[in-house]
Amino acid sequence: MISYFSPAKVNLFLRVLGKREDRYHELASLFQAVSLGDTLWFSLNDTKDVLTATDPHLPLDERNLILKAASLFRKKSGLSFFITCHLKKNIPHSAGLGGGSSNAATTLFALNELLGLPLTLSELADLGAQVGSDVPFFFSTGTAFCQGRGEIVENMPSLDLHKKIWIVKPKEGLSTPLIFSRFKLEQGQSPRLFLNDFLSGKISFHNDLEKVAFSLLPQLVALKENLLQQGFEAVSMTGSGTALMCVGSCKPELSDDFFIAPIEFVNREKENWYTDPSFC
Ligand code: C5P
Repeated sequence: MISYFSPAKVNLFLRVLGKREDRYHELASLFQAVSLGDTLWFSLNDTKDVLTATDPHLPLDERNLILKAASLFRKKSGLSFFITCHLKKNIPHSAGLGGGSSNAATTLFALNELLGLPLTLSELADLGAQVGSDVPFFFSTGTAFCQGRGEIVENMPSLDLHKKIWIVKPKEGLSTPLIFSRFKLEQGQSPRLFLNDFLSGKISFHNDLEKVAFSLLPQLVALKENLLQQGFEAVSMTGSGTALMCVGSCKPELSDDFFIAPIEFVNREKENWYTDPSFC
């Protein structure tokens, strides 16, 4: 069995620019891969896809994006194979951290390696877009400006913010389709200005989806306020929530009811997959 690291992502800024004719919204967002991640083990077998996971709540059939990705890979490559996969889950779900999307991208990358590179990275990213809007990002080098419904991915130089970042998530999660369905369009700062801030080393967190998420789950308002009062200099939701990113030199002081993890940014070389920085 071969193991692969499957990193979470954060949205350092996220602007929603409009509603499209399909069921999606037009986005402009700076995505960053992070050191919080799952581990996936893969091997090939001749009889059927078999998925096991440490989290008993996860579906282990084609509702799981790992098996959906494997099935799309099989169709696109024309190869006949099955996978045995074990997932060690660390990324919380319904968090806006892209855990399922990352697992799908990792599966596509791993299968391509195990089967002798039948597909190009760009074909893998296109397959990923059929699984979910966030999947193509993981085929970037880890820092990317993403547009369209998220699938138009432009690599950016890696960022060094020289600050400690924590992920804090309450037990409650939020559904991405629900958040987008309640979203009301607002004017705001140009995405390029947010991008320039980050590229020049300035933290300019922003998330247009925060307002909807905070109105659906008011405890997020109190949580953000609490974290700012603890001394964090910036606190912002990632994706459609409910995880918050906190920047500052303190450590979140919260009860055991919260998921809390320090993160680092991770990037990858073009031909290699992401590696878990805790093993370096
Ligand atoms: O692409 P994915 O399946 O991850 O999207 C889940 C849901 O999130 C979509 O069905 C849609 O309701 C919403 N969404 C959206 N605009 C995007 C991405 C997702 O409205 N750019």
